[in-house]
Amino acid sequence: MHYILSPSILAADFSKLGEEIEKADMAGAEYIHIDVMDGIFVPSISFGMPVIQSIRKVTQKFFDVHLMIQEPERYIEEFIACGADGITIHQEACKPLRKTLELIRAKGLRAGVSISPKTPADQLLPVLDLADMFLIMTVEPGFGGQKYMDSCTEKIRELREMLGSRGLHTDIQVDGGITRDNLHIVLEAGANVIVTGSSVFRGDITDNTVYFQKRLEAFEQSQTNR
Ligand code: DX5
Ligand code: ZN
Repeated sequence: MHYILSPSILAADFSKLGEEIEKADMAGAEYIHIDVMDGIFVPSISFGMPVIQSIRKVTQKFFDVHLMIQEPERYIEEFIACGADGITIHQEACKPLRKTLELIRAKGLRAGVSISPKTPADQLLPVLDLADMFLIMTVEPGFGGQKYMDSCTEKIRELREMLGSRGLHTDIQVDGGITRDNLHIVLEAGANVIVTGSSVFRGDITDNTVYFQKRLEAFEQSQTNR
């Protein structure tokens, strides 16, 4: 299994967004996590297509777009046009879930499905074979800088088992409150794509990215040696 760091730009200083993304890129992050919020599915509003289009110029890294928006099916084409490489939609926000995942894949992107802390893992059963990544939210979606919800650890483990028992090695992403101190918990539970907002963009971005990247590389190595 490959382990990937996806720094969330929601925690960046937007007055120097390009520069901060370049730092995370140069320090080795493979993905850039882009949180889009609509003020309806979640209480807050972040940013949308024009921002994504602008930052597309500063990095070639994988744009991991997390849509915290109601009826994301309305905007798939637009997010592809502005430079998304992968699009993650919420199970709770999208009625035509299968169709939307199929559309994302048909366009050549990686398709992701996310569930909020209150949604049980078995809600993903109908789309288990239709996603390239599942995102287990480890805080209530809507804001950066929240504390990791311990109750989500078991859900990561449960989903990894659900996938494994069907012979699937799909990526599991975790997002919200991941720190240097709890990283091992989500890795051991079965997550392999790690979103870090505050833990990377608050403080020295280069040092923080290198730190997490090294930890992920070491964990990957320890898994291959097993
Ligand atoms: C929360 C967002 C997260 C958030 C993570 O709704 O989806 O991506 O930015 O930030 P931290 O790592 O600070 O919790
Ligand atoms: Zn996110």
